[in-house]
Amino acid sequence: MELDVARARGETPGAARMLHFNNAGAALSPERVVNAMIDHLNLEAQIGAYEAGERAQDALANTYDAAARLLGCTPREIAVTDSASRAWSMAFYAIPLTSGDRILASSVEYGSNYLSLLHVAQRTGASIEIIPNNDSGQVDVAALRDMLDERVKVIVMTHVPSNSGLVNPIAEIGAVTKETGILYIVDACQSVGQLPIDVNKIHCDFLSGCGRKYLRGPRGTGFLYAKVDALRRIDVPQISLDGARWLKGACYEIAADARRFETWETNVAAKIGLGVAIDYALEWGIKRTWERTKKLANRLRRNLATLASVEVVDQGDELCGIVSLAVDGRDPAKIREKLAAQNVNVWVCSESTACVDMEARNLTSVLRASVHYYNTEGEVDKFCTLLEGMA
Ligand SMILES: Cc1ncc(COP(=O)(O)O)c(C=O)c1O
Repeated sequence: MELDVARARGETPGAARMLHFNNAGAALSPERVVNAMIDHLNLEAQIGAYEAGERAQDALANTYDAAARLLGCTPREIAVTDSASRAWSMAFYAIPLTSGDRILASSVEYGSNYLSLLHVAQRTGASIEIIPNNDSGQVDVAALRDMLDERVKVIVMTHVPSNSGLVNPIAEIGAVTKETGILYIVDACQSVGQLPIDVNKIHCDFLSGCGRKYLRGPRGTGFLYAKVDALRRIDVPQISLDGARWLKGACYEIAADARRFETWETNVAAKIGLGVAIDYALEWGIKRTWERTKKLANRLRRNLATLASVEVVDQGDELCGIVSLAVDGRDPAKIREKLAAQNVNVWVCSESTACVDMEARNLTSVLRASVHYYNTEGEVDKFCTLLEGMA
């Protein structure tokens, strides 16, 4: 059955106001998400924030339930954080590493993740090694197998990078880590809400996600899936009330589940909004919205390919809703400005977004147009016409 795009747009206050192709930055939230947050903020103002928090226990519990349904895990395996970077680094910094240990990473790790890799490698003496890509530009799983030995302690893998439409084969990589028992962290920041994700098929130990991008949730929200079995093999980078419990004297107990990665204080309204956004995404069905997102992105790539001065610079066997492009000798920031003047939102990914990949491909920045299921074919065509006039 065709997806009811008119309804999706009618439920999205921003959709009629602009052409929003910055879904990989932050997608437009549905009205239901915005209202849930406003309602809670009003309640905080009327009765006090702690008191409002007590009344919101069911809505807060729903956020864990919704995230668990989204990923195919249990609510105990979910920690809610204030960003995807926080979620990812909580897992990564918890892994005990020493000199001589090897960290294997994709070439498209997000800038913040890569900085963390450098930081930890410098502190511990572990090495970072980039897994080669195949000819299409996605991780070469056979090459990964060839790199393995007993010193490989963790594999970190970005599913969909910030700066291109690439989709890395995370389930095939998971088959390797399942065989070998190597800890496996997946960055699903750009893919969660965009593609169906089932942690049981990926066999990852940890997976980080983001609220504001393809899930269409609030800013300042992220989450971490942490397999309960994996928690026995790692430490925690920090603890505080909620993540741990003081018993008596010098004794404390770290939470047995993913909550160990959380801090007590949180933005309750945003956390509620995240749960509502996930429920909303699940109501549409991620499989259905993913099919439409791919269709729109393919149309966009096809149209752009007809423009002489535009080059689509996406790589990989499978491509998603993120379309990265270069316009002949033109500064992407200037093109973005011109598009913004026409009420069109896109983004510019700088080199630091995905340092290793951008450096290897000799790119200093790319223009990123990212579509979601509530965008229209008409918007895709209008975007290409506008770009043609600017190129
Ligand atoms: C692939 C990827 N990972 C991680 C992040 C970091 O997400 P956050 O800004 O929520 O920390 C981003 C942000 O754009 C991203 O694109």
